Amino acid sequence: MCIIARFQVLCRYKSLATKFPSFPMAPKSRPSSDIASFKEMFKNKKNIAVLTGAGVSAESGIPTFRGAGGFWRKYQAQHLATPEAFSRSPSLVWEFYHYRRELVLTKKPNKAHEALAKCQKILQGNGQKMTIVTQNIDGFHQQAGAQDVIELHGSLFQTRCTKCQDVTVNRNSPICEALRGKGQPDADADTSNIPLHDLPHCCKANCNGLLRPHVVWFGEGLDPDVLRAAEQAFEECDLCLVIGTSSVVYPAAMFAPMVAERGVPVAEFNIETTPSTNVFQFHFQGPSATTVPEALGV
Ligand SMILES: NC(=O)c1ccc[n+]([C@@H]2O[C@H](COP(=O)([O-])OP(=O)(O)OC[C@H]3O[C@@H](n4cnc5c(N)ncnc54)[C@H](O)[C@@H]3O)[C@@H](O)[C@H]2O)c1
Ligand SMILES: [Zn+2]
Repeated sequence: MCIIARFQVLCRYKSLATKFPSFPMAPKSRPSSDIASFKEMFKNKKNIAVLTGAGVSAESGIPTFRGAGGFWRKYQAQHLATPEAFSRSPSLVWEFYHYRRELVLTKKPNKAHEALAKCQKILQGNGQKMTIVTQNIDGFHQQAGAQDVIELHGSLFQTRCTKCQDVTVNRNSPICEALRGKGQPDADADTSNIPLHDLPHCCKANCNGLLRPHVVWFGEGLDPDVLRAAEQAFEECDLCLVIGTSSVVYPAAMFAPMVAERGVPVAEFNIETTPSTNVFQFHFQGPSATTVPEALGV
């Protein structure tokens, strides 16, 4: 329930559920894992929408939230990514995000990000289109060369002022002196309790508001413009790829099943099955840094 409650925008989807009365859909037959027939079908597609989640970055060394990597110290990652956690302890939440920023800065995109970026470029050259919509906040798709990536949940490398709402790109390492050497993930690491005035603050004249990561936290709504752009991509596509996502975080979890409901092929790439696997036409089981380049042939 708390996951569903994550996005107030979910109510918008009630209208979609009315439009697609059989949602959530009854399982169809088992999806195919035949790469050759996927490739044959892919050739004729003009408009491909891709949805990625934490799994696509797992082989870059960025832990997913579900599974062993989902803990930071004694906290479950989802419990720190909330506005309540930030108002209770901005220091603790900044330590967590500082850890995640520094981790991403030491890692790089993997073969799945690279294959998608390369494929997008090739398709563009042929008058076709690939739109990448990601739940990730690591920026790896863009770093691999992908264009016009729709970041549903914001970015680790943007901050938002809690006072004037200014959004700024910030890749400083560390983001402020007080966080240098902080954020160790070990369960027994000490909490730093950094005084508020030493945490990142807004540089705009006469503001000096406390900054927060510009990411969508559990319990917060998505930016309506970003959501609209994502919806459009999935409404217009003639093929959908779902890569490394557990299909349980809404509203992203509804995009691919809604595409399948239109009769448009959806191919899932994951190391395991998900609650939506059986409504998709293809399921390629395995690590996405192997399966995605193979399926896209790049
Ligand atoms: N890299 C990141 O930016 C990052 C990392 C962790 C969490 N998150 C956030 O956590 C939320 C969780 O949603 P989610 O569904 O994206 O992630 P999730 O953690 O819920 O699920 C990850 C999925 O990836 C699959 N997976 C793991 N390793 C894989 C691999 N090598 N190849 C293919 N699939 C693999 C898992 O089976 C699982 O289904 C999102 O909102 C996202 O913003 C982001
Ligand atoms: Zn400000």
